[in-house]
Amino acid sequence: MNLNLRIWRQVSSTVPGEFKDYQVKGIAPDMSFLEMLDALNEDLTARGEPTVAFEHDCREGICGSCGFLINGIAHGSQRGTTVCQLSLRFFNDGDHLIIEPWRARAFPVIRDLIVDRSAFDRIIQAGGFISVPTGSAPDANAILVPKEAADTSFDAAACIGCGACVAASPNASAMLFTSAKITHLNALPQGQPQRDQRTLNMVAAMSREGFGSCTNHGECEAVCPKEIPIEFIGCMNRDLLRGTWHHHHVSR
Ligand code: SF4
Ligand code: FES
Repeated sequence: MNLNLRIWRQVSSTVPGEFKDYQVKGIAPDMSFLEMLDALNEDLTARGEPTVAFEHDCREGICGSCGFLINGIAHGSQRGTTVCQLSLRFFNDGDHLIIEPWRARAFPVIRDLIVDRSAFDRIIQAGGFISVPTGSAPDANAILVPKEAADTSFDAAACIGCGACVAASPNASAMLFTSAKITHLNALPQGQPQRDQRTLNMVAAMSREGFGSCTNHGECEAVCPKEIPIEFIGCMNRDLLRGTWHHHHVSR
């Protein structure tokens, strides 16, 4: 099959970018989207032109490295799918595709389709951990975890930090990501001692990084490759109220 690609090319964050047109010809429909870009890059290398930079690692939908917009949709139009797992069989011969990086002030473009997502790392650093005494590994059943709490935590931990939620949000909000990371730990007994501080610190870090607020459009949930539910934002907001209340009473 043949595809017509319009790809965002940008040498660095300080140089303005632009779209450039490319054609890929004779590619197999059972290739993945990233394999198609690999084929394009081999072609560009053979012609002595700069290759298209894009992030990838596991190519199995688990690491969160990959991601860009295809015709304006983060990770493309297949629900619950990262671009690395997106097959070309969902496209038609001769399709015109616009491929561009996440667009958000907090995610500056580094090169072509690669954006700087270190803002996510700083949100995690603000509270995405539990503090425990180190030493030998504790018995697995030393702290009993209710099944419901374990399920909630597991669902939240499925977030791979890809950033699609930010790219899809009209306000470039990082609330789905942050709520998943907070709920992952706040749902567990092990996360209780630092629950309030974790929530306050991670929400403050999110605001500092320049992400917008949530206005309940639901676009984040729609594009999330791990189908993180928007209900987690409600959990985060409840924990934020709880943390603010406790903090207010302790500091009085
Ligand atoms: S919530 Fe979903 S879209 Fe957002 S970073 Fe996590 S996995 Fe990606
Ligand atoms: S390359 Fe790891 S999730 Fe896509």
